[in-house]
Amino acid sequence: MNKNLSIIGNFQSELEKINDKLQQTLINLGGAGWDIKSYAVLSEGKRIRPLVFVLVCKALGYCFEEIYEQSTVYEFIHAASLMHDDVLDNADIRRNKPTVNSIWGNHMAVLCGDNLYLTALEIALRTKNLEYIKMLLESVKEMTEGQILELENFMNLKITKEVYFKIITKKTGSLIAAACKGAGILSSATEDLKHQLYKAGIYMGTAFQMVDDLLDITGKREELGKEIGKDLMEGKVTLPFIYLLERIDREKSSWFKSALEEGISKELVKEISTKILEEGIGEKVLEEAKELTQKAKAILEILPPSPEKEGLLSLNSFIVVRRY
Ligand code: FPP
Ligand code: MG
Repeated sequence: MNKNLSIIGNFQSELEKINDKLQQTLINLGGAGWDIKSYAVLSEGKRIRPLVFVLVCKALGYCFEEIYEQSTVYEFIHAASLMHDDVLDNADIRRNKPTVNSIWGNHMAVLCGDNLYLTALEIALRTKNLEYIKMLLESVKEMTEGQILELENFMNLKITKEVYFKIITKKTGSLIAAACKGAGILSSATEDLKHQLYKAGIYMGTAFQMVDDLLDITGKREELGKEIGKDLMEGKVTLPFIYLLERIDREKSSWFKSALEEGISKELVKEISTKILEEGIGEKVLEEAKELTQKAKAILEILPPSPEKEGLLSLNSFIVVRRY
């Protein structure tokens, strides 16, 4: 079974419709870099963002065919952001395949990412809904701010938990929040519900990134489809390392610093990963991520009963148990 279809078995037909729409849009789009954009979008992604959008729309009774077209907005923005992110992170592997930048180079990755991002906006414009478009633009702006803040904290061993959470809320939380709120806007939900949906998306997205950052050091390459230990290699001091730094003595902290500056070997990644697990940091991070998914759950519970609501709840639980 395709990785993206195994998250919540009951929604395979929704995922198939989303994938068909993505494929169809790329075919219609054609033009320069068609093969590159298709390569980036049609690889084995989990499709979490478009699925969340479709499920929230349907849970709110907004069941028009248009929702599949609009769901692609979230996957195109996501794919564009990953193309840019892989340039920033010098990443060679994503979804078990060579990254766009590693095959076609950084210039092509940035330009094709821009093109996909604008395609997403074009599709969003078809709704002619200003509130919806404005919200999307604000969310993408938040994503870029998250990335800027991350870069500002490159190799910063003094980074605080607050700054870390600000980074991940912006870079990852805001697009999932946009998928939730976007569905609320198109469904003409009340102001309060739209606000609650945005918050649920922020909780889910933030928890998702916390798990991502933990798996980056404790996960398996074959399951994750990307290199392990990349965050430290790229000078990103994420939550597991913030906790580890709190627990090791000053002397070891300077060892950490020189390791960051001189580059991290595979052996060191293994050593740090073992230490993180021995210190119970993995459990601590997962526990905190779970608290956020509990908050998301409390909001999702206000939706009227439906299979889509159940789907959202299982997606929300999947965030903290996932291995990929
Ligand atoms: C992955 O983080 C990156 C993001 C979640 C956001 C990237 C956002 C941008 C580059 C700005 C938005 C730009 C456009 C064109 C929409 P990560 O490196 O921690 O995750 P990874 O391990 O999967 O690479
Ligand atoms: Mg990255």
